[in-house]
Amino acid sequence: MKLFLDTANLLEVKEIASWGILDGVTTNPTLCSKENMPFGSLIREIANLVTGPVSVECVSNRADDIVAEALKLNQLASNIAVKIPITIDGLKATKILAAKGIKVNMTLVFSPSQALLAAKAGAAFVSPFIGRLDDISHHGMELIEQILSVYENYNFETELIVASIRHPGHVVEAALLGADIATVPFSVMEKLVKHPLTDIGIERFLQDWEKVSLK
Ligand code: G3P
Repeated sequence: MKLFLDTANLLEVKEIASWGILDGVTTNPTLCSKENMPFGSLIREIANLVTGPVSVECVSNRADDIVAEALKLNQLASNIAVKIPITIDGLKATKILAAKGIKVNMTLVFSPSQALLAAKAGAAFVSPFIGRLDDISHHGMELIEQILSVYENYNFETELIVASIRHPGHVVEAALLGADIATVPFSVMEKLVKHPLTDIGIERFLQDWEKVSLK
């Protein structure tokens, strides 16, 4: 399973890249708005820190505008994936961009039908937002299960990115279902490592080690 970091913060990307487990980064307009840096330089610097894809979102609405914006974003670095919200114009743009070899991450996906259309249009990635479904009392992980079944039925090559992750359980459930990728916020990434018994175990070993004679 690939792990992406869901952030536009350079320090967070540097830190997780240093763990040796980072396969890519996903940004969105909200995440970029939190950073006090010009957008172009921010994305270029993030893209320098990872070899995998860095998703950057288009904010245009009409298909031809989306295509023009995506072509510009794609020039920021060699590992850019353009994020496009799932709309009719988004699908039209995806078809055109995919034919040019540009990786599209179809985003704001909340249903299996949207994911089916994204794959048919040629999206390289699809991003269902499970946390936002959980927030309104739906079961986000059911959507992941459904999309994985649909993609398996027809051998679609579109990779599923589990997005809008809220806690470590989401990552584990996604892995158990066989999702290709989870995009994880920094705070959740830290929680994935921690276990109280590991901390207690280290402390006890260190205490006992002091009693060992090294002569
Ligand atoms: O980057 C897309 C997605 O992960 C956003 O998550 O927490 O704003 O629902 P959230």
